[in-house]
Amino acid sequence: METFSEQPEPDIVKISVLHEESIIVGFHLTDYWIKDLISNFPASTYVIITDTNIASIYLEKLSNRFESELNRAKKSNVPVPRFLTYSIPPGEQSKSREIKGEIEDYLLSKACTRDTCIIAFGGGVIGDLVGFVAATFMRGVPFIQVPTTLLAMVDSSIGGKTAVDTPHGKNLIGSFWQPKRIYIDIIYLETLPERQFINGMAEVIKTAAISDESDFVNLENGVESIRNAVLKPKKEFPFQGTKIETRTSGQSLLLSVIVGSAKFKAHVVTHDERESGLRSLLNFGHTIGHAIEAILSPELLHGECISVGMIKEVELARSMGHLNQVAVGRLLRCLSNYGLPVSLDEKKVLDLTGEKFCTVDKLMDIMKVDKKNRGDLKRIVILSGIGKTYEQNATWVSDSAIRKVLSPSIIVHPNVISSSSQTHVNMTTPGSKSISNRALVLAALGKGTCRLKGLLHSDDTQVMLNALIDLEGAKFEWEDDGETLVVNGGGGNLKVPNKEIYLGNAGTASRFITTLCTLISPETITDTNKHTIVTGNARMKQRPIGPLITALRENGSQIKYLETEGCLPVEILPNKQRFRGGSINLAASISSQYVTSILLSAPYANEPVTLKLTGGQVISQPYIDMTIAMMESFGIKVERLEGDVYRIPQGFYKNPEVYVIESDASSATYPLAIAAITGITCTLPNIGSSSLQGDAAFAVNVLRAMGCTVTQTSTSTTVKGPPIGKLKPLPEIDMETMTDAFLTASVLAAVANNQEGGSKECITRITGIANQQLKECNRISAMIDELTKFGVKASELSDGIQVYGIQVHGTRIESLKGPAEGVHCYDDHRVAMSFSVLGCVVPDGTIICDKKCVEKTWPSWWDVLESKFGFNLDGLDLKSQREDLLTHKDISVSSDNFQDFSIVFIGMRGAGKTSLGKACAKALGRKFIDMDDHFETVLSTTLPEFIKTQGWDAFRTKESELLASLLKTHSTGCIISCGGGIVETESSRDLLKKFTKEKGKVIHITRDIEEIIKYLNEDTVRPSYEENIHDVWKRREEWYKECSNYEYHLLTAEKVNNDNIDPSEWKLIQRDFFRYLKFITGQTVNNIDTLNKTKSFFVSLTYPNISPSLKDIPIITQGVDAIELRVDLLVQSDSQKFEDLDYISYVSHQLALIRRSSTLPIIFTVRSKGQGGKFPDSREKDMFKLLEYAVKWGCEYIDLEIGSSEDLILNLIKNKGYSKIIASWHDISGKMKWNSEEARNRYKIAEKYGDIIKLISKAESINDNLKLQEFIQTLSSKNSKSIIAINMGTEGQLSRVLNQFLTPVTHSLLPSKAAPGQLSVCEIHQALHLIGQLPKKKYYIFGTPISHSMSPTLHNAGFKVLGLPHFYDIFESKDVSAVKPIIEDPEFGGASVTIPHKINIIPYLDEISEHAKAIGAVNTIITKTDENNKRKLIGDNTDWLGIFHSIKDLIEIDSNTSALIIGAGGTSRAALHAVNQLGVNNIYLYNRTLENANILVKEFPTYGIQPLTSLSNSLPISPKIIISTIPATVANLDIPDELFNSGKGGVSVEMAYKPRRTKFLEKSESMGWHGIEGIRVLIEQGIFQFEKWTGRRAPKELMEEEVMKKYNL
Ligand SMILES: NC(=O)c1ccc[n+]([C@@H]2O[C@H](COP(=O)([O-])OP(=O)(O)OC[C@H]3O[C@@H](n4cnc5c(N)ncnc54)[C@H](O)[C@@H]3O)[C@@H](O)[C@H]2O)c1
Ligand SMILES: [Zn+2]
Repeated sequence: METFSEQPEPDIVKISVLHEESIIVGFHLTDYWIKDLISNFPASTYVIITDTNIASIYLEKLSNRFESELNRAKKSNVPVPRFLTYSIPPGEQSKSREIKGEIEDYLLSKACTRDTCIIAFGGGVIGDLVGFVAATFMRGVPFIQVPTTLLAMVDSSIGGKTAVDTPHGKNLIGSFWQPKRIYIDIIYLETLPERQFINGMAEVIKTAAISDESDFVNLENGVESIRNAVLKPKKEFPFQGTKIETRTSGQSLLLSVIVGSAKFKAHVVTHDERESGLRSLLNFGHTIGHAIEAILSPELLHGECISVGMIKEVELARSMGHLNQVAVGRLLRCLSNYGLPVSLDEKKVLDLTGEKFCTVDKLMDIMKVDKKNRGDLKRIVILSGIGKTYEQNATWVSDSAIRKVLSPSIIVHPNVISSSSQTHVNMTTPGSKSISNRALVLAALGKGTCRLKGLLHSDDTQVMLNALIDLEGAKFEWEDDGETLVVNGGGGNLKVPNKEIYLGNAGTASRFITTLCTLISPETITDTNKHTIVTGNARMKQRPIGPLITALRENGSQIKYLETEGCLPVEILPNKQRFRGGSINLAASISSQYVTSILLSAPYANEPVTLKLTGGQVISQPYIDMTIAMMESFGIKVERLEGDVYRIPQGFYKNPEVYVIESDASSATYPLAIAAITGITCTLPNIGSSSLQGDAAFAVNVLRAMGCTVTQTSTSTTVKGPPIGKLKPLPEIDMETMTDAFLTASVLAAVANNQEGGSKECITRITGIANQQLKECNRISAMIDELTKFGVKASELSDGIQVYGIQVHGTRIESLKGPAEGVHCYDDHRVAMSFSVLGCVVPDGTIICDKKCVEKTWPSWWDVLESKFGFNLDGLDLKSQREDLLTHKDISVSSDNFQDFSIVFIGMRGAGKTSLGKACAKALGRKFIDMDDHFETVLSTTLPEFIKTQGWDAFRTKESELLASLLKTHSTGCIISCGGGIVETESSRDLLKKFTKEKGKVIHITRDIEEIIKYLNEDTVRPSYEENIHDVWKRREEWYKECSNYEYHLLTAEKVNNDNIDPSEWKLIQRDFFRYLKFITGQTVNNIDTLNKTKSFFVSLTYPNISPSLKDIPIITQGVDAIELRVDLLVQSDSQKFEDLDYISYVSHQLALIRRSSTLPIIFTVRSKGQGGKFPDSREKDMFKLLEYAVKWGCEYIDLEIGSSEDLILNLIKNKGYSKIIASWHDISGKMKWNSEEARNRYKIAEKYGDIIKLISKAESINDNLKLQEFIQTLSSKNSKSIIAINMGTEGQLSRVLNQFLTPVTHSLLPSKAAPGQLSVCEIHQALHLIGQLPKKKYYIFGTPISHSMSPTLHNAGFKVLGLPHFYDIFESKDVSAVKPIIEDPEFGGASVTIPHKINIIPYLDEISEHAKAIGAVNTIITKTDENNKRKLIGDNTDWLGIFHSIKDLIEIDSNTSALIIGAGGTSRAALHAVNQLGVNNIYLYNRTLENANILVKEFPTYGIQPLTSLSNSLPISPKIIISTIPATVANLDIPDELFNSGKGGVSVEMAYKPRRTKFLEKSESMGWHGIEGIRVLIEQGIFQFEKWTGRRAPKELMEEEVMKKYNL
């Protein structure tokens, strides 16, 4: 081979596009392309435009070459052309009109003319942007593409599409402009970041998948060498690859792949330059992929979204019957082997996208806007095979088919029409997983080539295959459309892999691979690869592998558990001993896979192996027999001796030329069971009586016994079921030899019918399946739980399950009902498939959640149900429904069940865990478990007793064990309160940490340590500490923090116990804690209402310590919507250290103080010095630690400085939970101008990271405020995020006046302004009024008699304190028509309406709100201007809101709660509506004239109202709520004692407010009820009026105070 030190003339490939050979591909082309360009495209100026990333790597060298070539080529008489370069910031943000303008300005400033040649040197961003510049500059100048990313090489540089993005969408402005040349120098890929390379591979794989199977095969087989050629190029000498003969095989392959892809794109472009038919094929994966991208960009890259899109689109093709599973599996594996995601549930995707998720509704919505749609049809490229499409262009596909594929869950509808006894289904089932897995290992270990046919294509076998590839144990290649796997056996030479072997949840692989890893020889150790780590997903890490490891260790292998004893992950150290062999003892009563694992590797041990199985009964003997039989097919004969002893000779497996894998017998049970349950006939040609698999006996031993007709040959099976409902129960069936089939049998047993009837029981008892408790999930309890949901009775046996046939209970199949929340599948394919069998006869359909879990063994199962058996399936996305739920504000706590993961409380003893735990368990409808009580119950002892006799260590160990089992058995639906010392042991800490990782919540309850000490000194019940409590706290504090993902600071000086604590304080504690829980579980996110508010404000607290000023908080927060805690301004002491836990506790305490005095949402801000705050700029990590705490503390808003390090930012965003991010930029220098590129870039960055954008600059003149307004109008289009944009300084005050959303405000009581120029709410309103933005309005009360009304006092007080210019007056009239001129006055702002006009005002109004309609009365008039600027009068009702909110927090309401309403006038209507809205279903209504009561009963037919004739009798359900709506002056009613029969804690509401105390109230309170005075309700409803009128938060405390002052006169 020739080598070069000088660069030789390169070998190139030319590709023609649009009939010109303008694409040139090769390696090391720099010199070549510069020459080619200069000689073929003479110009006066050459301009290279690139991005700064690329410039920093290549530009200097490139410029030198270019200039010297220009000089060299100089022609006499002609001046040397100019050479210019220009770099722009990298990234998609640069593809903008602004940057385009910037480039154009540059070109113009350099006096570039029409004979300029522009070179786009970079990725797709540069290509698209620079192409567009070239297209329009001087009406178009020549342009050259030098692509440097893979995506650009194979896709974006070819075709002449150019574009820029706008805030309205990507690529919306652009043109077609063909480059004169495209120079593809593959060498540039060597510096491309790995993720960008993988991103480009998506398009390469896409092209092969639609165009050329042989290209695809190259990709499949070339993963390693293509990846290495780019990511780890081996360079033996400079310029390697320039000439064909010097190319590595990887380089050649890479070149051919790129050429193949580019050629196809060029071909399509040539034949179809403007979008249509052929070109639409390139859209494969893009219809769905783009929708995903719209949601998940920028977290996911284009290619990554397309990769998932392709998978969804081939699944669609498969479900339409155009594509087989082999092809789907091949594409899936190919994509994932290159490192692309194939599902949005993958860990790496979730890590990147955090809380963002794609609901099906969202995806469908986005696809809906595509202009190419036709009604309910969308265009999607449908494959018919690898390299082939179903049509010559995209295919029309229905929305419902797409929805089905996208949905995570599925509904199975029974098929009434085609399942008749005549129906005969003939089908083959997937290959056996057990046989496939064994065959893979055998052939890999063997010598020679073996063709495996009928191999199962599944996650499990893929995991096994990947592990074997990782170990470099053999070479694999696919043939015949993927039907055949060619294995080139490596003869047992395995290498230490260069990464962890990750096995997902594939149990078989975990067992087989572990032993295999002990065969690795120490010679293969390298500096970086020293040992083998075998690991899996969370569930895998709970599955046992202990007995196998023990046996291997005893045999000399060095294996270490890395997390939990007895489970993966393990680390295996290669050593001389390797797998020593000789005599091995193995406990085989848990899994036969241990035995198989040792058997398979045994021939390669250092000595012949004698394997002795111990531990009693050997489980699943047939699987062991299968292994032995298969080993024999590969040339090794195992000898079975007496008493479970096996002797395995040493040797190599000899690979047979071909090995055919039989159908999976467990999978075969499902179609056969469908025949059994529906009465049809089903034949499977690939499994019969000669099968080695235990489950193959299912047809004969189970189905025949249940009443089916079964015919079997040695290789085929046919089952015909009895008519529906005629299956018989199996009183006793031992399924030990076919344990996996027990789930199938259980669902059949559920519909079994004991034909003899009478006294005979109808129970199926399945035994011999104890091992099923340790499978993907505890399958026995899973089956019991899920069957129960259908109303089927089932229970556990010591080693099995018993199922009661539904028909004997007098129920019939027709009345079976699937669970509304769906069948939970526990990520277990067998649970899913079994219940889909049952679903075949459930009349209203059965929801199976998480349909994807069948992919483990039968990815096309759902398609088979439809296409083979004719069932109808629908897609369902429970997450979409959950999102809908979340957008409704104020969902009551008890209705929540979607986030029912148990919540664990930890913290010091005495912190309040038990009291809070009990209270919140009650409120959330959960079960409360106190670990200490649990301990005492389980061990039948007391803690002091146990500790006295066994000691602390034994206690801690036991405690940890109990925690482990509790977290397993009670992982949902509970509140678990742990003992204070739970964090003392590492094992418990690990358990807690693991729980938080699996999305469980562990809340650390903190409380001031001095308070705790005070409390503990009084406590004598619990075992006392033997050490100082301060020391205990010091030791544990860090542990508590690392074990918890949430933290709540309990603020009280009292002993926390609802019997001791002052009830009013306890109420405040509960209120705050429930708010906290509702927030962190996402039930009520307490966000600022942006819909009904025209303006909102937040006040910045600038105190160093809030404590002394707490009393001011209600005043300071008047009219504001949120409170900003400026953490950087807090001062605990002069010497505070930001990294100290003491400081964190101080912040947490301050937060708790604010929470105690206000329920407003909190904005948590740590402002750095550089951004105008006090937090040291050098302490970025500490800043983010605080922000992470803000999430733990449940702060509603968190301020994030966008100038911080990106990894910190992304990490925060990923973990932000329900907190919203305010992405902020404060330019305190004032250099940032609003019309500059900088401002736009800051905006874009803030938009990327934040839920809310906050940009602050400084005004030098009033003009800067106008520029700011312009900026906002151009950038924030309709659907973009809320923005806070302000200029600091006095000159900037106008911007504060005009800002709409969350304007920061100050208050005169605060120690200082948070920023220069800050105004108060009152000042802002006054200013708005003066500049004509807030005209004065008049408000009234209409009715009579109203001269003593409190309303004017109430509202005018509110207007005044907020600085609103409005006035509220009385307008008294008997005749409603008198109000007409008033409400027509343009100054009219709104009115309160009272007796006697509440009903007859209605005809004067334009619209009536829903609630007012329901009530049939109006008490509030609101004015609104519609989109045509026409003023509208809207009638609303706030009376009911006043009643509703007065009661809501005082009482819990369930289906047995009843309420009594007294009186049947206008107010009574509001009272009825209020209790109805509270959820009360039993309402008694009493009125002196029964007729009037009856009228209301008729008017509110759905409210469950029962009229009463008298009040003297006690009622069937004693009311817990009584509302009196009769004027106190008319009848000061005496209510009989019996009405208070429901006991203490009821609520009485008096609607009359003159006099203040009525007999009714006095009586109620003497009976231990809460009495609500009429004046309170009046104020409450008035507050709602005020807020509806002004769009501002009412200064409630003050308004109330003013009214009470006057009222008490
Ligand atoms: N015109 C078309 O037909 C077409 C087709 C597909 C995509 N596109 C467009 O292409 C754009 C995406 O292109 P992209 O994926 O190439 O992104 P890109 O241009 O942003 O490049 C990706 C990143 O890699 C860096 N980079 C590029 N080459 C490098 C190298 N050789 N070494 C080191 N770093 C390098 C860049 O600086 C950038 O940070 C999108 O805007 C998309 O709309 C256009
Ligand atoms: Zn694309």
